[in-house]
Amino acid sequence: MRHEKIEKNIGLMIVLIVVAISFGGLVEIVPLFFQQQTTEPVAGLKPLTALQLEGRDIFIREGCNVCHTQMVRPLRAETERYGHYSVAGEFVYDHPFLWGSKRTGPDLARVGGRYSDDWHRAHLMNPRDVVPESNMPAFGWLFDDTLDGTDTATKMRALRMVGVPYTDADIEGAQAAVAGKPEVEAVIAYLQQLGTLLKRER
Ligand code: HEC
Repeated sequence: MRHEKIEKNIGLMIVLIVVAISFGGLVEIVPLFFQQQTTEPVAGLKPLTALQLEGRDIFIREGCNVCHTQMVRPLRAETERYGHYSVAGEFVYDHPFLWGSKRTGPDLARVGGRYSDDWHRAHLMNPRDVVPESNMPAFGWLFDDTLDGTDTATKMRALRMVGVPYTDADIEGAQAAVAGKPEVEAVIAYLQQLGTLLKRER
């Protein structure tokens, strides 16, 4: 019997299992690449500015995304706290995604505009000054270290290759836009635009 042959030949069985599972996976995943809902940017979505882009990279370097997710799930407890749930079109220019899965701190998907720049400065210098019970680490060095912007244009060119619509002017002006700015300003510029396109339901 054919089935017996498969059951007694583990090599053949592994191959067939891989084929079965890949087929199932492809059927689920491939359509997502072509669905408008997942490939079309939400209205008003713009690529990050040079300064915001550097801020995002510092966000990753400092591991902010390890404690903070960037995805509001469509559950009442989340939408009441954070605002409109996240939609795929908000992340079309995000490479890589920073959705995350671990929330030591609050979700940041809609933190843009929630606090003033001054609040963020105080909070990043020492979180306990503004949130006494906070266990978020302080990031004092972001105030001393400045950006030189030597590779900002290269990063933007790389992003353009994967579909982020940067113009030549954006790329040419990139270094001048960031050079000499303290890193903390880049991080705040990045935070302040997060999730601001979909209005908060509050
Ligand atoms: C070890 C985990 C941890 C890391 C790493 C971390 N945070 Fe936090 N963060 C928290 C916690 C906990 C809170 C909630 C208490 C507070 O507001 O300080 C918080 C709060 C915040 C808030 C306020 C959110 C709100 O809605 O009130 C912002 C903004 C923030 N963090 C940004 C950052 C940035 C930017 C970085 C990286 C430079 C970072 N965090 C790194 C744990 C972390």
